[in-house]
Amino acid sequence: MKNKFIAGNWKMNKTIADTKQFINELIPLVAGANNRVALCVPFTDLATAVELAKGTNIAIGAQNVHWAESGAFTGEISVNMLKELGVEYVVIGHSERRQYFGETDATVLKRTLAALAGGLKPIVCVGETLAEREGGLMEEVLKRQTLEGLAQVSAEQMADVVIAYEPVWAIGTGKTATNQEANDAIGYIRGILAQKYGDEVAQNVFIQYGGSMNEKNAADLLSMPQIDGGLIGGASLVPEKFQAIVKAK
Ligand code: 13P
Repeated sequence: MKNKFIAGNWKMNKTIADTKQFINELIPLVAGANNRVALCVPFTDLATAVELAKGTNIAIGAQNVHWAESGAFTGEISVNMLKELGVEYVVIGHSERRQYFGETDATVLKRTLAALAGGLKPIVCVGETLAEREGGLMEEVLKRQTLEGLAQVSAEQMADVVIAYEPVWAIGTGKTATNQEANDAIGYIRGILAQKYGDEVAQNVFIQYGGSMNEKNAADLLSMPQIDGGLIGGASLVPEKFQAIVKAK
């Protein structure tokens, strides 16, 4: 069985001072953990986070990246800028970016291709809204987001791609998908990947669950066969809670 991959997504939380305190507290708590650990932090915290996490088992990720190498894109950050800092992962296509900042499957694809070409590992987020789920559109949405968001990604490149299934209705709401719902949706996404890339690629790709995952429900969710890890929002802001998820059995 694969180890799990637990990533925190801090969203727009924590200053540099907060980051120092958090990572210094977290390092001993997760040292020696079997699962892969990453923290995806705001741009302003990246340099500090990378420096503090050096030589530990904590990888650092950003929460967005632009597809162009450089140029007139005010407010954006390039792959090279992140690489130079020592960043390893980047969250792409989070539902909050789709909802508030006009992210589409087409821009998810551009960012993902640029990240991969530049040696960053994308954590590509997909997930249906409540209206889509209730309207019977969940599979259609997941299929479209997966296939369009990864359209020109090769089978070889899939080794560096992580997918996060985050049902929008479960994010920050305290409403978690049941273990079975999360497992089924992830199994469905894996099936789509198997059709496109073959079984081996599909089995090897890490597909995380995200949405109100916390120290109480993590062990049950992570015990499901399709769920390869978690992308954690609120519970990743407190070292004690986050380490409990990293070590959940
Ligand atoms: P919460 O864990 O706060 O629900 O957020 C999930 C999420 O959006 C992680 O990317």
